[in-house]
Amino acid sequence: ALLRVTKAPADKILGLTAKFNVDLHPNKINLTVGIYKDNNGRVTTFPSVASAQSMLDSSLDLNNDLSYLPITGSQDYQDNVLNFLYRESSNGHELLEDNRITFVQTLSGTGALAVASKLLATFVSKVVWIPNPSWANHANVFQWNGFNQIKYYTYYENGKLDIDKWLKELKDNYSSADPGWPSSIVLHACCHNPTGVDPTIEQWKQILPVIHDLGIIPIVDMAYQGMESGDLMKDAYLLRMCLEYEWPNGLFVCQSFAKNMGLYGERVGSLSVVVPPQPKELKNNIDSQLKKIVRGIYSSPPGYGSRVANLVLSNPALKQQWFTDVKGMSDRLWNIRVEMHKRLNWPSLIDFKTQHGMFYFTGLNPYQVQILQEQYGIYLTQDGRMSLSGVNSSNVDYLCESLHQVVE
Ligand code: LMR
Repeated sequence: ALLRVTKAPADKILGLTAKFNVDLHPNKINLTVGIYKDNNGRVTTFPSVASAQSMLDSSLDLNNDLSYLPITGSQDYQDNVLNFLYRESSNGHELLEDNRITFVQTLSGTGALAVASKLLATFVSKVVWIPNPSWANHANVFQWNGFNQIKYYTYYENGKLDIDKWLKELKDNYSSADPGWPSSIVLHACCHNPTGVDPTIEQWKQILPVIHDLGIIPIVDMAYQGMESGDLMKDAYLLRMCLEYEWPNGLFVCQSFAKNMGLYGERVGSLSVVVPPQPKELKNNIDSQLKKIVRGIYSSPPGYGSRVANLVLSNPALKQQWFTDVKGMSDRLWNIRVEMHKRLNWPSLIDFKTQHGMFYFTGLNPYQVQILQEQYGIYLTQDGRMSLSGVNSSNVDYLCESLHQVVE
């Protein structure tokens, strides 16, 4: 009966903004969700994206088509995104030439994860490994799409990355695994959310062979490409490294333009799956099932944001501007870290220099996070993650003074 519906807890990230909005604290600061804001606290449109929008607006040919897109998105978008991900930044030429990459234009990174998890849970297995800690929505997405075992691998403990423990846990768990039912593993491509700490290239060289040899299926979640180094191409290093292996059960890549093009609400992203070469019909089979999944959930993706992204990716001048825009965003985030570092000097402070990207993982406990919120109007997620984009020259002093008081 309908009476069985119980109340679900508020979303651990988005639920906080609702609370923030009604908070009357005069100095309140929202450092919860990962949305980039400028030094005036505004969410601005990137110059590259604004130019693409005005080009679309002034060209009826390009912009007057509000018809449905195909189930898996427009062909132009597919070609441009695949080129961007696999031809330019990765050693994926051959895979593209051999038609081994299946593609879905998705509702951003979350949509990509949802479609991927539906396919995996239906046909492969219902077990996924997620880093501890991870983005609060990962477990939710996998659960709602049919996974019945969410396992956590140790990622970050006592203020640092622990890959020895991570790999030991995988190996210990896999001594008895059934190769017919391979598990999946979520790997954050860069700017790990929430910690901001990623394995180095050398560490990935230790991690990937273990995952490969255990027969685990990688799901690369690439939501912050460009925000680690400021260079979109450079930040695709994990994808490049994964492509050096042949994955017998596929390689899943969930990618988003929400952050690096600032297209949050337009929901623009992709799922691509690198399919093993044999049997020959497998690629078509996967294509067909992905279509069926999309059709059963939302039918086809929205058009406008993908047209904007498509133009930025395909027009050389806009693309160059986009690279500059992303560099500017990444530089501002880095400068905030430096500014905060100058003002904070706790012994317990987690080393700023080991972290990068949108988030600063403070190491504050849930009680301290609560005090910050209730007494100072400063909102972090409960795990102590601070979205640096909400910090600016007008609030950095107040923020750092408040942090000192809470920590003392
Ligand atoms: C975040 O972690 O804040 C972002 O990925 C936004 C979201 O959807 O949670």
